[in-house]
Order: sequence, then C-alpha cells, then structure tokens
Amino acid sequence: MKAFLTIDKQHKTGDIDRRLFGSFIEHIGRAVYGGIYEPTHPNADRDGFRQDVAGLIQELGVPVIRYPGGNFVSGYNWEDGTGDKSLRPKRMELAWQSVETNEVGIDEFQKWATGVGSEVMMAVNLGTRGAEDARNLVEYCNAETPTHYAEMRRKNGFEKPFGIKLWCLGNEMDGPWQIGHKTADEYARLACETSKIMKLVDDSIELVACGSSHPGMPTFGIWEETVLRQCYDYIDYLSLHSYYGNRDDDTETYLGCSLDMDRFIKSVGAICDKVQAEKKTDKKIFLSFDEWNVWFHSNEQDKQIPKWQTAPPLLEDIYTLEDALVVGCLLITLMKNCDRVKIACLAQLVNVIAPIMTENGGRVWKQTIFYPYLHTLKYGRGVLLRTALKCDTYSTDKKQNIPYIEACAVLNDYTGEVTVFAVNRSLKCNCKLVLNTNGMKAVEHITLTADNIRAVNSADSESVYPVDKSVANGIDLPPKSWNVIRFVSE
Ligand code: AHR
Repeated sequence: MKAFLTIDKQHKTGDIDRRLFGSFIEHIGRAVYGGIYEPTHPNADRDGFRQDVAGLIQELGVPVIRYPGGNFVSGYNWEDGTGDKSLRPKRMELAWQSVETNEVGIDEFQKWATGVGSEVMMAVNLGTRGAEDARNLVEYCNAETPTHYAEMRRKNGFEKPFGIKLWCLGNEMDGPWQIGHKTADEYARLACETSKIMKLVDDSIELVACGSSHPGMPTFGIWEETVLRQCYDYIDYLSLHSYYGNRDDDTETYLGCSLDMDRFIKSVGAICDKVQAEKKTDKKIFLSFDEWNVWFHSNEQDKQIPKWQTAPPLLEDIYTLEDALVVGCLLITLMKNCDRVKIACLAQLVNVIAPIMTENGGRVWKQTIFYPYLHTLKYGRGVLLRTALKCDTYSTDKKQNIPYIEACAVLNDYTGEVTVFAVNRSLKCNCKLVLNTNGMKAVEHITLTADNIRAVNSADSESVYPVDKSVANGIDLPPKSWNVIRFVSE
C-alpha cells in the first residue's frame, strides 16, 4: 500500500497550545493514594509523594493537570483537605463509593504539581456547593489580600498565592449520575453567576463551562446552546468529554473512533459559532477537551469491587497496542483541530485509565499509551502545517470511509524541524509513505508496533515500546503502527 503526503513549511494553519497535551488526576481509586502519593513507599519524598512516579511525569513534561475531579469534585469540600493533616475528616466519597482520607488536598497537590513542572487546572464543586465556595476557593488560591481565605492559605504555610489560571465550572453537570446533576437551564444560570463572582475575585482567571459529557447524551446540542447563550460573556472555553473502547471486539471499527472525536469537535465548534453570530460579538469561545481516553477494559471487574474502601483499584485498564494506536489517532485529531481546541486532558495520569501504573509499595511502569502521549508532548510543539494526504480508505459494517493512514505535521518554529505523526490502521499491510516535503529530509523514524495487537506492558516486561527505524530507503509505516518521523531542511 502507498500513501502520498505533501508538507510545506510555509503553509501554517495554527499554533498548537501546549495545554493540548494536559492530563488529569482525580481523587478516585489509586490515582492519588498509591499512585502519586504513598508515604510508606521506599521512593517517597519528605511530603509522601513517590519520586519514581514523579520522575515519569517529568519525563512526559505534562503542562497542565486537571484536579481534583471528575465526578469526585461534585461532592467535595475543599476545606477538608487543608490544614493540620491529623485533624482532617475522613469522608464517605459518594461519587466512587469509597473512603476519602483527605491526606492530600489542594495545598499538597499544588506543591507537588509545581515540583513536576505542571500547572493545576482547578475544578470547583457545582454539585453540592455553588458560587460562594467557588469564590472562597479562588481567594484561597489566588488572592494577595489581607482577607480571610488568603490568610487561611498563609496560615497553612503558603505565603505566596498559587496563581491558578484555569478553572472548571463543575464537572459533567449534564449527566444524571453526577452528584447535583442539573438541567441545562439550571446549570447555565449557576455557571453564569459563579463565573461572574469568581472573576470579581480574580479577573485574570480563565473559565471552562461544562459542555456534554458525551456526544451521545440526549441533551447534546441543546445543552451547549443553552449554556453558551447564558454564559457567553463570562466564560472562555466550553468542555467536551469522551471515552472510547473496543466493546464489540471489532478492531477495524475501533481504530476509526478518532473520526467520531473529529465530528464531535466540529459539531461543538459549529454551535459556538452559531451563538457567536447570534450575539454579534467578536469574542470566540474555544474548546477544552478535558477528559478523553480509552476506557472499557476495567468496566466489568469494577463491578466486583466492594464499596467504602480507601483507594480501591478502580478503572485500572491495562492497555494494548490497539489502544495505543487509538490514543495516537486521537492525539493527531486534537492537533488537527488546534485552531479550536486549546486545552485537552488525557484522563487520567496514574493508575486510573492511565499511561503510568504502579504497584502499592512496589514498581512503576509505562503502559502502551504512554508512548504516543510522550512523543506528542516532545515533538508536537509549534505550528500545525497544512498537509495533503492521499491514501486508501476502508469500511466496516458500522463505519464508512476510514482512511488507512491518520497523520499530521508540526513545525517547531525554534528549530525549524518538522515532525510527522502517523498511524497505519491497516492490520496487515505495510504502507510506503511517498513524501513531497519541499526540500526537507527525514532524519529519524520512531515506530511503535508489535506482532500481537493485543500485546500489553506490565511491571515484569515491556512488549510495546518505540524503536528507531532506518530512513535510508524511504519511510515505511508497518502494519498497525504509530510513527514519528522527523525532518530537517536539506
Ligand atoms: O475519568 C473518570 C470519570 O469519567 C470522571 O470522574 C468523570 O468526569 C467521567 O465520567
């Protein structure tokens, strides 16, 4: 099979915001306790955070981490996780039916995130709480004033404000499963007034309003329009969430799911444009795809996990090569939509549907999906180039016209290098990439594949890992592979 790709350094289509490669850590399962934090672990630092885990997060270079939820945030009292640890209450955590010890809260998380080089994207509770608590939290985190909540932060040992820039106005408030679920109208009013009040405390913050938690939601579309019509002047971004999975054991259809992500983004962008036109304003609303990933492997096993445990092993999907290819296609889709999507969070980062896994008290390892995420973080910096790609397509019973090759090209403005990211969806055929690069030559080709598409990594062995391929005889994309090809000017 052959695919034809034309790249031209002069044809720039849009800047890729670094925050497109963000991630997410929620108080759920072993994401925090047993994941990033485990004071009894031999690699724990003085604050109880695992340095082996922090090391891998630093290797990735995650620019922004959404916190503390997720569904968790809709029942969370942020004050429970501040002050003297011995006095913090243990709570029934209703979203995941677990026990929350509150050993880690906003103070510890903010300090840890700064240490690993990430910004925090903070979510406020619009489920059981509302505008007043959101206002207090912004003051606690960001104010320099001699006032109650800023003083409380100082008393807790943080003289300087945290300066948290990005804030989520609740989480998945359209979902009936959400604690404090709301109708579109109820949410829109609350989000509008909460935004206004939060920005009165700190007018430099940016706000993300909840969009739909899935494009299949019965309120999809109406929800976005209602929220935008009422909140337009106060918000900066609208959120999208979506998880993908090979639930029908149909690999070829599953590999095409990034087409659904693309359509979702374009549809929500169109709704934003429609409301912008109605409002006759220059202000454009951008998108925050702040939960996306593969999530299906752990669904059945999670039903067996007893309630009211501390840090139960929830949502521990073990990812295959097939999932890594899907994650690669989803990352390419996000980059291709960088004119509209400015923020995106791979959900989540450690243990819970995550690229990084740990054993309690033991080892840490990289799941298959770690690698496409690492490569885009490393080489997806700069400007998306307009590319022309010609390749064959295939169809399945459920999906039509899936291109065999998913690809995009990114120019690094500082180094002048261009990186092409490409997934070959064919399960059997090698694909020769016929390139028209306008005076650039390939200097490196990294590829991720394995004989078995269901190969996984574990603490004992790594079966799916990137290898360097020669560029001497042109660029061949192996069947079922993720590829990173770097070019410099000749
Ligand atoms: O990431 C896991 C969960 O998925 C989040 O808590 C929720 O927002 C979504 O439904």
